[in-house]
Amino acid sequence: MPTQPNNPHLPFGDQRTAPWYGKDIVSVKQFNREDLEYTFAVAHEMRTMVERVGTFDLLKGKILANLFYEPSTRTSSSFTAAMERLGGSVIPINEVKYSSVSKGESLPDTVRTLECYADVIVLRHPETGAAAIAAKAARKPVINAGDGVGEHPTQALLDAFTIREELGHLDGLTITMLGDLKYGRTVHSLSRLLSLYKVKFNYVSPDILRMPADVIEELKAKKMEQTESGSLEKALPETDVLYVTRVQKERFEDPAAYEKVKGAYVIDPPTMKAAKERMIVMHPLPRITEISMEFDDDPRAAYFRQMEYGLYVRMALLAMVLGKA
Ligand code: NCD
Repeated sequence: MPTQPNNPHLPFGDQRTAPWYGKDIVSVKQFNREDLEYTFAVAHEMRTMVERVGTFDLLKGKILANLFYEPSTRTSSSFTAAMERLGGSVIPINEVKYSSVSKGESLPDTVRTLECYADVIVLRHPETGAAAIAAKAARKPVINAGDGVGEHPTQALLDAFTIREELGHLDGLTITMLGDLKYGRTVHSLSRLLSLYKVKFNYVSPDILRMPADVIEELKAKKMEQTESGSLEKALPETDVLYVTRVQKERFEDPAAYEKVKGAYVIDPPTMKAAKERMIVMHPLPRITEISMEFDDDPRAAYFRQMEYGLYVRMALLAMVLGKA
């Protein structure tokens, strides 16, 4: 791939030595602890730059294709904002029904088309493994923005960054994941990513929405401490990060089964009396009823701040794969 010299006035490295230049981001399994620290450092730099100047020209002239086959508010708009704050531009394809996908075009063909016009492709797709298929078809970098019930690596990276910024460290923390651990792709990615650190996991869910056995086995092989339960009572007092998830209605085959579990847990001020004073509550959002709005003003409610950290992490990832970090 051709290289261009960096602007010497920018505080970022030369792209010829940039370790993520031209790479796809498909799974958190691609990241080791060093990569994570590197991403956090770049994201931190992005935060400083946004606070100082708002928008700057690191990716001037670069184009992102934002290809979304599933609904999204945060992921899609934060990638758009990230690209535009870096001086680049975006081809948004949110309504695939208005694209040639509705004529029956295959994912590899759609991706091969978009890479003629764009430098990087962000893809959200309802099928597990779709991002890997797209990455194989494309010569340009593909970033997985959620593939069915599989992974959501950029969310996990921003979640880990949120924990680091909010609590200062990751080692030694107790992470409690609550809600739909079966269909929630964010928890599949986050638990794998945090297994790079010395953390303890509590999985709290209705029985039919337990964390998939393959994730538990993977973490067991890495000697991670994990507990499973249907009740939050025991886990909450020791929790440093309570990661709440939405019951993923759209992934249920049986609507009656969804109705039975949709209100299984509600985080509200009375429930949170049992939690530590210094801990955080996170949620990838959107929330439905699993966190009551009465809790939003509690300093431990980190879910709105989490969205903002997402902008900096996505700016970092775009700069990394386009060789500017
Ligand atoms: C999540 C997703 O799409 O997996 N949302 C997001 O990207 N912030 C979580 C969800 O939809 O419940």
